[in-house]
Amino acid sequence: MKGIILSGGSATRLRPCTKVTSKQLLPIYNRPMIYYPLNTLIKAGIKEILIIVAPERAGDYLNLLGSGKDFGVKFTYEIQDKPRGLSDAFIIGENFIDNDDVAMILGDNIFEDDLSEEIKNFKSGGKIFAKPVIDPERFGIIEIDKNGKAISIEEKPINPKSNLCITGLYIFDGRVVEAAKQLKPSARGEIEIVDLHNWYLSKGELEVAMVKGEWIDAGTFDSLLAAQILAKEKLQDKLII
Ligand code: TTP
Repeated sequence: MKGIILSGGSATRLRPCTKVTSKQLLPIYNRPMIYYPLNTLIKAGIKEILIIVAPERAGDYLNLLGSGKDFGVKFTYEIQDKPRGLSDAFIIGENFIDNDDVAMILGDNIFEDDLSEEIKNFKSGGKIFAKPVIDPERFGIIEIDKNGKAISIEEKPINPKSNLCITGLYIFDGRVVEAAKQLKPSARGEIEIVDLHNWYLSKGELEVAMVKGEWIDAGTFDSLLAAQILAKEKLQDKLII
């Protein structure tokens, strides 16, 4: 399985701190943010990782992370010239993915759990990672039946059918590239990850795994602070890089 870290975006919610640097390079306690999602992939045994960055920050990522040799893996870099949406990662990554299975993680998502087994036991189709939240109207929400099978997905629902939020780690088989290429931009002008989930869901091939520990999308100042505390208090002895 290959890995992708999507680490571009505009990070408008963290201005002015992100005016001259990338959100995913900001410190979370004693490491740059991107180290945390990198840990999730590297721990799961993924050796080939594509890092997608915004053009103006590419040099900083290369300087920080290099070839991957220091971490026992191989990094490839691609530039996303505009934030076209999360599904764009699979179009940018077409050659890199080369029909293999791929785990894509967002560069600002921090998981307390070791998800290695869930990543390693992926077989085919799509797999997403869900976590109960208290404010489901802010997220992509998945409804599941009593056997844990996905029923429906809604983006930022006004009347949520569940409180299970779809977190920023997604695993797909090689068909994801062609599926991403068929997507039309949403009203906000992005090709949405939820449309890829629905593509697999409509075929009955979307698996849902549960996130038990803490999960933080560190995209706001309050969640950034929460991530710092999580990193200091619970993650230090779990990190391998
Ligand atoms: P978001 O947090 O939704 O967007 P953002 O980082 O641009 O921030 P803001 O809303 O404050 O302007 O993005 C989630 C993650 O995905 C984050 O790590 C950035 C990344 N991303 C890309 O790399 N390319 C994209 O086209 C988008 C939409 C996001």
